[in-house]
Amino acid sequence: MTEKKAYYITTPIYYPNSNLHIGNTYTSVIADVLKRYKNLKGFDAYLTTGTDEHGQKIMRTALDAGTSPQKFVDIIAEETKELWKKLEIDYDTFIRSTEDQHEKDVAEIFTKLYEKGDIYKGEYKGYYCTPCETFWTESQLEDGHCPDCGREVEYQEEETYFFRLSKYTDRLKELFKEHPEFLEPQFRQKEMLNNFIDKGLSDLSVTRNSFDWGVDVPFDNEHVVYVWIDALSCYLSAIGYGDDKAKFERYWPAGVHLIGKDIVRFHTIIWPALLMALDLPLPEKVFAHGWILFDNDKMSKSKGNIMYPEPLVDLYGVDALKFYMLREFNFGSDGNFSARKYMERYNSDLVNDLGNLVSRTTSMIAKYNGGEVRKGTVSDSFDDELITLAEETYTKFNKLMDEFNFNAALEAVWTLIRRANKYVDETEPWILGRDEANKERLDRVLYNLAETIRIVAQLIEPVMKNTTATILEKIGTDNKGFESAGEFGLLEEGARVSKGANLFDRLDIDKELVKLHEANGALIEKRLNKNKKEDEESKEEYIDFEDFTKVDLVVGKILEAKEHPNADKLLVFKVDIGEDEPRTIVSGIKKWYAPEDLLGKNVIVVRNLAPRKMRGIESQGMLLAADFDDDLSLLSTLEDLKPGAKVS
Ligand code: ME8
Ligand code: MG
Repeated sequence: MTEKKAYYITTPIYYPNSNLHIGNTYTSVIADVLKRYKNLKGFDAYLTTGTDEHGQKIMRTALDAGTSPQKFVDIIAEETKELWKKLEIDYDTFIRSTEDQHEKDVAEIFTKLYEKGDIYKGEYKGYYCTPCETFWTESQLEDGHCPDCGREVEYQEEETYFFRLSKYTDRLKELFKEHPEFLEPQFRQKEMLNNFIDKGLSDLSVTRNSFDWGVDVPFDNEHVVYVWIDALSCYLSAIGYGDDKAKFERYWPAGVHLIGKDIVRFHTIIWPALLMALDLPLPEKVFAHGWILFDNDKMSKSKGNIMYPEPLVDLYGVDALKFYMLREFNFGSDGNFSARKYMERYNSDLVNDLGNLVSRTTSMIAKYNGGEVRKGTVSDSFDDELITLAEETYTKFNKLMDEFNFNAALEAVWTLIRRANKYVDETEPWILGRDEANKERLDRVLYNLAETIRIVAQLIEPVMKNTTATILEKIGTDNKGFESAGEFGLLEEGARVSKGANLFDRLDIDKELVKLHEANGALIEKRLNKNKKEDEESKEEYIDFEDFTKVDLVVGKILEAKEHPNADKLLVFKVDIGEDEPRTIVSGIKKWYAPEDLLGKNVIVVRNLAPRKMRGIESQGMLLAADFDDDLSLLSTLEDLKPGAKVS
């Protein structure tokens, strides 16, 4: 018995700074389809995905929402897992970069590179783009902004560790020259060579010391590891780099890293150089897909033009979503998501072409043969055309899938479906059915149709497995495996066909557009409000220690207390806080205290509160008091301390 060949597929690990939209989910849908395809072809495919939880961007997003980074990412990571469940993304490992084992692996990798001399300490001077988590030199900026996203960058001068990226320039050049299949689509190679490698690579800053949300550098905890080093290492830790050698060796190197075009440089320059430094084999391929716009615009939360995948699944099913994503967009190029087009394609490809072929075939078999498939004996030249096309489709589909040309692969299947619909018009079974003399011919026609449907069902399984199961059930047969799509004639004589419900129901597009818009809008609203609520709930939860120490609290002794001449509620104190002169402090506590009762008492004074006039008298500090309902008590000390003693 030969062991199955391993094939490791990765999606990027997503930043959990907000819920994922249709653009992010594109990568995961492709990855899922590819995994299913590889498994159906006899591979042992392994798929990892996850969340990229460290870094300044996540930290700031969390703090802006008034919550801790860990709490923030815990929620989005959970919701991301729920999303993949809903989309039936069949991943094997969901890796979170805050997991212990991963953090250990990153620390180990970092130490290894340091000991090897590929990481050294120096000083970084340059610019940082937080949304992209990217370092730039002055000359790389465009009009002073990030050349990738166009946003503001921050100048930074910090002690940092560098990775000797420059050392790997020649090996990277060689990689691109000798392995043109390493990066696809191939036009991206020129970008990497012209814009980066050929210009000469400079060493890369791989630590930060201005914030703390990351993996500590093991031998210098003033620094955390740069988030991209951390994130890329997930591809290793997700398959057992540090804790499961056998598994790691089985799946590494990756068969393909699927990524978006915005992160090509990280995956085809920095990542291979790191792997070279670690003496690990390189991934076989990095495939960069294009950008998906929404109504021809970049999706943005602040603009409110986000399309979430959940409503599409709820309203039209997961198979339709996967079909659309693969069929509509040319993998590698940019594409545009439009809800109207989604529905038009649903009606034309799924309802008219596929649904119609299945429903007319099953109803004719019910009508003419009482629901039983018979092979018939009389053939015709129309048959050969259909059969040849069906068999060729299998070969073509495989070839295109192997080239990551998903939309063309599906187009090939739909060409077969449309050919079969045309075959119905050519052979006119309803006319054959009028004359008993044509029975053997009619049976053969219906058989060819049912068998074509079986082949289609097997072919679309990597993309639409639920539809595959439904169709096979309708034509009364079992799943004979993906390769059975390459052989015409496997459908059993005597199979029992049942018409049942439509595979896909026609959409009333104008009505559905309103429904979808409402469902998506409600989700946007809910997610915005959730953030707002978290905001309000936890804004007061934490302050930094630094913030606390800004408040200068000291012990004071009340030397004098009297009523304010111009106010009913105020008392005016002279308080000794250990300075040359006692402070004048005005306080609104007359309702609770008679002035004479407070003489000689110790109180707690805020020393550095900006002075302010209260009904004509300047108050030079504040007395601390606790209150509940209508009760109030000044704060004091348990022991008698010297005025000016520091409270902390
Ligand atoms: O880059 N259309 O994470 P990310 C198509 N954490 N793809 C899109 C898209 C769109 N409109 N918007 C985003 C990161 N993407 C890093 C990855 S991997 C070691 C670390 C894609 O959440 C984007 O191209 O910003 C990328 O492939 C993926 O979503 C994650 O983006
Ligand atoms: Mg991004």
